[in-house]
Amino acid sequence: MGTNRRKFLKDAAQLGALSLVPLTSFGNAAPGAPPLKISNPTNIAVDDEAFWKMLRQQFPLQSSKIYFNNGTMGPSPYPVIDAVYQKMLQVDTTADYGGWEESRKLLAHFVHATEDEICLTHNVTEGINIICWGLNLKKGDEILVTNHEHVGGALPWLNRAKVDGLTVNFFELGNDAESTLSNLKKKITSKTKVIAVPHIVCTIGQIQPIKEIIALAKEHNIQVFVDGAHGTGMLDLDLHDLGCDYYASCCHKWLCGPKGTAFLYIKKEALDKVQPYFVGAGSDSGWNIVEPPAPTIKGYANTAHRYDYGTQNGALWIGVNAAIKFFETLTMPVVEARVKYLASHLQKELLKLNSPNLQMLTSEEERSRGAVIAFKLKNMEYAKFQTAAGNAGFRVRVVPENGVNCIRISTHIYNSIEEINRFVALVKEKANE
Ligand SMILES: Cc1ncc(COP(=O)(O)O)c(C=O)c1O
Repeated sequence: MGTNRRKFLKDAAQLGALSLVPLTSFGNAAPGAPPLKISNPTNIAVDDEAFWKMLRQQFPLQSSKIYFNNGTMGPSPYPVIDAVYQKMLQVDTTADYGGWEESRKLLAHFVHATEDEICLTHNVTEGINIICWGLNLKKGDEILVTNHEHVGGALPWLNRAKVDGLTVNFFELGNDAESTLSNLKKKITSKTKVIAVPHIVCTIGQIQPIKEIIALAKEHNIQVFVDGAHGTGMLDLDLHDLGCDYYASCCHKWLCGPKGTAFLYIKKEALDKVQPYFVGAGSDSGWNIVEPPAPTIKGYANTAHRYDYGTQNGALWIGVNAAIKFFETLTMPVVEARVKYLASHLQKELLKLNSPNLQMLTSEEERSRGAVIAFKLKNMEYAKFQTAAGNAGFRVRVVPENGVNCIRISTHIYNSIEEINRFVALVKEKANE
């Protein structure tokens, strides 16, 4: 037994919060911590640094680096890596086929949808493209997006506009939910057919008032598409309650699943509003080439499976199942509370610096703040700060998108208050230079 694992077991026994099962499934590929088992997640305190420090041992993250860029990519914990490894080994030993349908079911349960509303994709952009190209839009129709889009949220709409003669307009994010809604209202015209909005913007991490946006859109008979790249694994999602028709998300950011795994939620009632353009095995309800009277596709699957088809990487999807299990063991209310607690601590500490050089970009409004905080230093280029932060051991993301030009910090369950305090000390030093 390695020193790390011995220490983990000792810590766990002392804390009494975890009941551990023997390390039976870890092969050579994934040494480290044993699978997580928690008997009572409601006992996990949001500020129990000892518990969260121990949880970090589930992740093979380098101890010499502080990772604050989960918004780009979520590192997987050992149980996910192990599940992928074991499944790959099995597939290549037995040549078994399949194994990804279970993920549809588990993802649906995780985001409070039904299995037939989940399409398996490979990234968020793929889900965005399915909706963008599938909606019935014609020349002159207008699409409204935000001024904080990720390239993956912007390019598909811009491309469709270019091909089909649509217009893309944008509305500005406000400092809080109400001002965002007011900005949006002013941009709606009789030609607006779609509002495409991120649930959580990639630039400054602000959470958008999706329910109100949907209500407003309904009044004008406008469809709403939600780019939920950052929703799954950060927030305790309930897509039925959120009320959107379309939600594209992924498993490789906040869910810390295998990279290249994602999903698109399409509400059952909205299925026939989205024309499938790429189809294949699993997306039809019958087809025929050789029978008379003519080759034909009978119809589409009666589920969101109509948009995905063919062979998937079963091992990656088994990894997604393990990631869901990992987060369900902690429970999403606990995860959401912790990641928001960390982000809120970071924001408060940065504001406490009271530096004239520091500009806080993320809203201080409770409902608009998630697990991402963005700021600017007026006395230092963001790229220069990134280099300085990298030299000090911090992995941060800079945001050149849409001219926002800021520094973005993502805080996830493997981060700690101590790491944040160390980062704030660095910002203080740089803001005073
Ligand atoms: C808001 C937003 N939308 C879309 C994407 C694109 O995601 P993917 O790389 O999974 O296609 C990202 C990635 O960071 C994002 O932050």
